[in-house]
Amino acid sequence: MDDQDEEEKKEKAAAEIQAVNERTGNVELIDPRSSRRGFLKSFGIGAVLVALGGQAYAMLRSLFPNVLYEPPQKFSVGNLDKYNEGGSFLEDKQLFIFRENNTFHAISAACTHLGCTVKMVKLNQAKKVTVHGQEMDEQYEFHCPCHGSKYYGDGTNYAGPAPRPLDYFKLELSPDGGQLIVDKADKVGQDFRLTV
Ligand code: FES
Repeated sequence: MDDQDEEEKKEKAAAEIQAVNERTGNVELIDPRSSRRGFLKSFGIGAVLVALGGQAYAMLRSLFPNVLYEPPQKFSVGNLDKYNEGGSFLEDKQLFIFRENNTFHAISAACTHLGCTVKMVKLNQAKKVTVHGQEMDEQYEFHCPCHGSKYYGDGTNYAGPAPRPLDYFKLELSPDGGQLIVDKADKVGQDFRLTV
């Protein structure tokens, strides 16, 4: 009698499960192992795509290099009146402006060895030197504090590792005639003078 009851219970339970399945529609059972394989496969493909995407980005990026914005090479150094006789040092421009009466010239303060800023040294008394076969009375020199290069007053190197003279830059007047304009992109000879 008990076995029969048990059998009936099982049949009843199976019928109830079937009824529930019919009400809820098809329920797909998921095998957890195949689910894990699928995930790993998707993850692997994703990683490859990310790596390829990174390489493609790097290649494209190399076609558009960073633009370096340098300060303008041509600029005003102010009114003529601002300059007295002799040399004036413009630290932010790494430049010396020299005035002799109504003539001007601009000498770079960048040492031609490794670019340190040279110092203008006023001599206690004028020194006679011969530069490029010409004798001159020197009032000042340029000395580099980094490795000891020395330049005569006209910018010619004569001691230390500096390989060449200091650069001279072109000077001109602004259109209204009031300002001095330096063009660091335009190097000129040591004999260049702007007469105003
Ligand atoms: S940078 Fe001037 S001597 Fe080296």
